[in-house]
Amino acid sequence: MTRGKFIVVEGMEGAGKSSAIAVVETFVQKLNHTYIKVREPGGTPLAEQLRTIVKSASHDEIVTQETELFLMYASRSQLLANKIHPALAKGHWVIADRHDLSSRAYQGGGRGIDEHVIDTIANITLKGFKPDLTLYLDIDPVIGLSRAKARGDLDRIELENIDFFHRVRNKYRQLAANDDKIITINAEQAIVKVHQDIEEILMKFLTT
Ligand code: TMP
Repeated sequence: MTRGKFIVVEGMEGAGKSSAIAVVETFVQKLNHTYIKVREPGGTPLAEQLRTIVKSASHDEIVTQETELFLMYASRSQLLANKIHPALAKGHWVIADRHDLSSRAYQGGGRGIDEHVIDTIANITLKGFKPDLTLYLDIDPVIGLSRAKARGDLDRIELENIDFFHRVRNKYRQLAANDDKIITINAEQAIVKVHQDIEEILMKFLTT
């Protein structure tokens, strides 16, 4: 049995992840692959509880950056063991809304947690497991956040100041530039062009 492919969509709030995921989904359907969709944090009953906790803005205590990091990886561990690994082993494809790169960008870039600390926790959690392809939707946080704000309330992390998001973006771009399985897409273009770019990348990476 051929293992399925693991495709991740990444990017900041307002970058257009949901519509990009719909493009990936249509593409995978056309190839006639069975697939599942997951999101992080979340994706299993326990991981969804962790998502609620980590996104909640109503804590009357400080959420330390270490707690935030551990909750992200606890959620990822649950999702990997219960959904992602079993699906791939059955030959199903997995389309993910965020994965490890988000922790690198938000907790590493945004919060400034040492990358060696993240490496250690990532190694324990992922054991070398990596996506086949990551599509990173790159957008100026000023534009992205104004789109996200127009959509409704912001979560605890989205309430950070703009400098935080500039650091997140810089880390995303830096990591994407150094990994040939992470493809950067200009998410500031017209949506039709963004979707065209995604389709071209999927054709190039997943049909050869
Ligand atoms: P979203 O998936 O609805 O965008 O919300 C997830 C939030 O969690 C978003 O603000 C990004 C943040 N996040 C991290 O900070 N680190 C992570 O590892 C993940 C998966 C998400």
